[in-house]
Amino acid sequence: MAQVRDQWTGRAGFIMAAVGSAIGLGNIWRYPYVAYENGGGAFLIPYFFALLTAGIPILLLEYALGHGHKGSSPLAYRRLSKKWEWLGWWQALIAFLISTYYMVILAWALSYTWFSFGTQWGGDTEKFFFDQYLGVTDSFWNFGGLQMNVVIPLLLVWIFVYFVMRQQAHKGIERLSRIIMPILIVMMIIITIRGVTLDGATVGLNALLTPDFGALIHPEVWVAAYGQVFFSLSVGFATMITYASYLKKDEDLSNSGLIAALSNSGFEFMAALGVFGALGFLAAQSGVDVQGVVASGVGLAFVVFPQIINELPWLNSMFGVLFFGSLVFAGLTSVVSIVEPAISAIRDKLGTTRTAAVNWICGSSFVISFLYATKGGINYLDLIDHFLNSYGLLVGAVLMTIAVAWTSRKVRDLQSHINRVSDVHIGSWWVICISVVTPLVLFIMTGMNIWEELQAPYGDMPYSGILIMGYGSLLLALIAAVIFHHMEWKANMEPVQFNEKEGA
Ligand code: ALA
Repeated sequence: MAQVRDQWTGRAGFIMAAVGSAIGLGNIWRYPYVAYENGGGAFLIPYFFALLTAGIPILLLEYALGHGHKGSSPLAYRRLSKKWEWLGWWQALIAFLISTYYMVILAWALSYTWFSFGTQWGGDTEKFFFDQYLGVTDSFWNFGGLQMNVVIPLLLVWIFVYFVMRQQAHKGIERLSRIIMPILIVMMIIITIRGVTLDGATVGLNALLTPDFGALIHPEVWVAAYGQVFFSLSVGFATMITYASYLKKDEDLSNSGLIAALSNSGFEFMAALGVFGALGFLAAQSGVDVQGVVASGVGLAFVVFPQIINELPWLNSMFGVLFFGSLVFAGLTSVVSIVEPAISAIRDKLGTTRTAAVNWICGSSFVISFLYATKGGINYLDLIDHFLNSYGLLVGAVLMTIAVAWTSRKVRDLQSHINRVSDVHIGSWWVICISVVTPLVLFIMTGMNIWEELQAPYGDMPYSGILIMGYGSLLLALIAAVIFHHMEWKANMEPVQFNEKEGA
């Protein structure tokens, strides 16, 4: 049975969905501290280098693969070369595993939007987050049972996401992005203006923007830039392959890619100004320097921000709702893009209805997400996130460039496909990036990550946990990818005439 592919209403709908996917938690809490820790203002150099040599080239490669081969990631790779189908599964499955905990962070953000009314977290925001809200256990293997504070918002977010996913892409994901993205941008502008006009904001902004050019000699700074660009642009998740496959035949690719990439970067620069303005304010209030108040990841959003909100002179609750609400909004349009690749893949391969695929994929992600709603959940989240990001996404991206440029030698075909449909033509720089620069840099990065892994256990976690949950998730994705690869195609295997003209 041939499938009818989902289709965006047009180019604007695709761009909205792609920007919605890119702008997520990574822009609001990840970029500011990554930039701060890696050279401040000087971080812009490796950041733009990574964006131009890997972020945008891979984004365009994913667009070309999905659009040119009209398929979800396994189908797109299979049409590239039969032996690479498993890579499409690997990428979709890594994204699927990321969705299982991304939903839980959304659930926390939803709770904190509620807690913002009357700043319910009280004076000791660290104790509140870890002890009261999450009820974190004292040792890694002590799961501690389900934490209802997290289970209830998690159920709410899941119900919402499930109903969005059941709709065809243009009715569900596209409409969600069209509604949320403009609101999110307005919210972020208000947060940024408030952040940079607080007393002491300049101290924070100086800390963020003062360039430490010396940092650029450290390879980790470059690794961090590549990691940020990948996560933030949602490349390596198979999302962009899937989204591009829902575009009409002659729709522009390169211009859309540039718009998506630049909006994403613009958003994260703006968020960083707001966040660091607010951190400068907190530092001034507490009589310490910015180093004394800054935190990374969950700590920045759920411990430091509530502190900032406590200290605000007026409209504390409203600022809290704006900040945590913006995390919920940014996260929602990203999480739908992280589950979609697996849904699309199942539909293509097994010829199921959208509803059946959604039931399977959302259902299993839903069940797994409860692991992170246990009292020990934050540890598992931290560990699994580290492994999926450092290896799942990066290794997938290296293999993607090898598959396209080295084993099937289709990079020129994909370039001419992009140029045939797009206003902005891409030149040999793209071919060089995809064939040489990107695989080389990503290969070095992966090597460095592995080297660091061998120095000390990640986050001082027990080796048993690292082995079972960290490496275990990667192994699970690999085994499942190989199994899916060998399953029989029930649908959609009509060959696609690559580069065919609309209506030809
Ligand atoms: N690109 C998404 C984010 O930044 C995954 O959170």
